[in-house]
Amino acid sequence: MSPSRRCCAVLFARVGATLRTGAAVAAVALGSAGTSTAWGYQPIVNYQLQCMGCHLADGSGESGRVPSIRRSLVRFSEMPEGREYVIRVPGVAQSPLSDEETATLLNWMARNLSDLALQSDFVDYSAAEIRRWRTQPLAQVSVVRARLMSAAATRGAQ
Ligand code: HEC
Repeated sequence: MSPSRRCCAVLFARVGATLRTGAAVAAVALGSAGTSTAWGYQPIVNYQLQCMGCHLADGSGESGRVPSIRRSLVRFSEMPEGREYVIRVPGVAQSPLSDEETATLLNWMARNLSDLALQSDFVDYSAAEIRRWRTQPLAQVSVVRARLMSAAATRGAQ
């Protein structure tokens, strides 16, 4: 088990403690037809419940442990390999969220937790896309991420 996994276990425990107090506030449940669960939360609540413990409220992460998504998510989403990576990282692939909730969440994050404006031709994540990639484990996460960062730089993104 890598050091980052151990740190994540601690973070998960911390998030659990925070959530017990925040649960009443967070219970903005929406009935949504078409999802695989009968009840779903708004994306901001799902972010708070499933992601914020590591990625922080604004997506800036924690230096050396959790990357900031504020510039990477939108950039990666513009490349097919980047989209696969985003869906296959453990925090996304293995979350308890449905495919539809995950797609909605990533689309919300791209619009709300990014320093980069979306291109006009930005393609929203779909439930089908999530379903397709989340079951395929990502080997060598850091190698893939480094390749994507360099590909994004080559594309001229800031
Ligand atoms: C336990 C900590 C943790 C949780 C919880 C977590 N992540 Fe992550 N996330 C990471 C780490 C660490 C990485 C870097 C890749 C890796 O090592 O897995 C990452 C990478 C990412 C990336 C790619 C960004 C990049 O620049 O590489 C995205 C997008 C992302 N996570 C989204 C989410 C979403 C959405 C959730 C909630 C459903 C979530 N994560 C939950 C720790 C976490």
